[in-house]
Amino acid sequence: MVNINKHRIEVIKTQNSKINEVDFNSLSFGEIFTDHMFECDFINGKWQKPKIRPYEALTIDPSARVFHYGQAVFEGMKAYKDDNDVIWLFRPDENFKRINKSAARLAIPEFPEDYFFEGLKELLKLDREWIKKGVGNSLYVRPFVIATEPAIAALPAEQYKFMIICSPAKSYYTGEVRVLFAKKYSRAASGGTGFAKAAGNYAAQFYPTNLANKKGYQQIIWTDANTHKYLEEAGTMNIFFRVNDTLLTAPISDRILDGITRKSVIELAKDYNIDFEIRPITVKEIKEAAQNHELKEIFGAGTAAVINPIVGFEHDGSKYELPKLDNSYASFFKEKLTNIQYNKAEDIHNWRYKV
Ligand code: COI
Repeated sequence: MVNINKHRIEVIKTQNSKINEVDFNSLSFGEIFTDHMFECDFINGKWQKPKIRPYEALTIDPSARVFHYGQAVFEGMKAYKDDNDVIWLFRPDENFKRINKSAARLAIPEFPEDYFFEGLKELLKLDREWIKKGVGNSLYVRPFVIATEPAIAALPAEQYKFMIICSPAKSYYTGEVRVLFAKKYSRAASGGTGFAKAAGNYAAQFYPTNLANKKGYQQIIWTDANTHKYLEEAGTMNIFFRVNDTLLTAPISDRILDGITRKSVIELAKDYNIDFEIRPITVKEIKEAAQNHELKEIFGAGTAAVINPIVGFEHDGSKYELPKLDNSYASFFKEKLTNIQYNKAEDIHNWRYKV
């Protein structure tokens, strides 16, 4: 069943939906994918006609540059269904801008805006049954670009594949999250790719994160690579600290991802007159604040993680547990944000995007 829509995306629908095999009540993050995928190739200096087709494995030449040099970038977005079955995205224009910013840093050609939005909309409409209603349910949307040119000289590729795949999601972290403040390893250096959603940024965290996991920490809060004195981000999330009633977060830089959830939390803090400071945050001040009982909360903010409280941390052998609060900023921001995302509250910033 092939259909060319008005925007000339070729659509090939699956004849064998997998949806009835899925238990939507017990989803591990990112393991199940919907029936269709969006695909667009860059060949001969331009993006070719996009296609949506049944989700399946790809055939890619073993010499494709992505396998050798990691020339790949991605995005993370979520689609939500409201009580009236309307599908919404949250600030997708930000994801579009960021994937092209990431792409530019990895010498990947820019992807056209109309293909991005039309592809997203067509794909989400086709797989709409995979988006379940109710706060906590969403469809995680993963656009990505890989260098497919079969050639192993260490050069930027001349052929790429842009894809969007989707995965029904609940929470990213299950259970309590404790973090280790980085002291030896680094995620990003000045002038590097830390601000980009470059695949290699994530791979480079796996080994130190495995070591942290063995010590009982789910995640690392990365510190600046030069001095390890400043707290930057957590790799899967940006990080906020609440000292007394002031919210602190590090300024974005070429080492820190410009998180969409992060900037939304900052906007919400302004809306609700919550004091915040965007400035370099030292390990020392956070440890002192914890010792003085002034550190009330740490939480992460990200698309996959939403707002995730952090219950404790370790640095240089010293361990700290955070107090359990009835009125935490983490729950406040999570509620405000999800109410907007699920069309349960007014959207004064125009963050919602109707599919
Ligand atoms: C996201 O939050 O969308 C991300 O890309 C983080 C990833 C580690 C799941």
